[in-house]
Amino acid sequence: MVRRPLVVGNWKMNGTRESRKALLADILSGVSETDSAEVGVCAPFVFIPEAAELLESKSILLGAQNVADEDEGAFTGEISAPMLREFGCDLAIVGHSERRLLYGESNQLVAARYKKALDHGLTPILCVGETLDQREQGDTFAVIDGQLAAVFDLAGVESLANAVIAYEPVWAVGTGRTATTEQVQEIHEYLRRKISEREPEISASLRILYGGSVKPENARTLFGMPDVDGGLIGEASLDAESFLSICHSV
Ligand code: PGA
Repeated sequence: MVRRPLVVGNWKMNGTRESRKALLADILSGVSETDSAEVGVCAPFVFIPEAAELLESKSILLGAQNVADEDEGAFTGEISAPMLREFGCDLAIVGHSERRLLYGESNQLVAARYKKALDHGLTPILCVGETLDQREQGDTFAVIDGQLAAVFDLAGVESLANAVIAYEPVWAVGTGRTATTEQVQEIHEYLRRKISEREPEISASLRILYGGSVKPENARTLFGMPDVDGGLIGEASLDAESFLSICHSV
């Protein structure tokens, strides 16, 4: 099974209108449809309409950094999947560790967001991963199992046919500290095996990204691991040269 790698920039809460336009233009000039990797960017909500215009009929995927667990109604501050679709989004990150830890999003809420994304034709990028404390306590697999179980209970394992998973060890996100290739491969292999027990075909075609201090210097070795199908890139996606270099490391 050939899985086309995917590299997605997560801009988080960074930039101005002008700086995002310039960044996107630079990325566009360095990406072509024939590249080995598919490329996406997850922009802050307010930049999405303009980004969608700039990306129209281009090969770069556009994503949001979260999506509501409801379609519409009195949910102040939320943005729904139908809204994101209307404005040209293809992807939505769900369960990023910053959402889980800083804003208290539970496994159940993340699962509900994931399901809404799928229901409306967005590809969810489901983030899973353990904190340093959890790793040191030997709880890594249990934590990931819990994060996946909530999603499987609500949407079914088969929903992964239209989703992407990102393994992001929290201790490596935004810290400059990257997991070793062995640590990464161990978890990616675990994820693929676990899904394979129930849905072998879906598991074989599922893209599992790694995220956590991916840089031009380490991208090639990380992406070289058999179960790593690209990356979710924070800090290094804010600079076109770094991001493109990562995209081309695939
Ligand atoms: P980082 O962020 O590359 O800055 O570690 C990754 C992410 O949060 O998706």
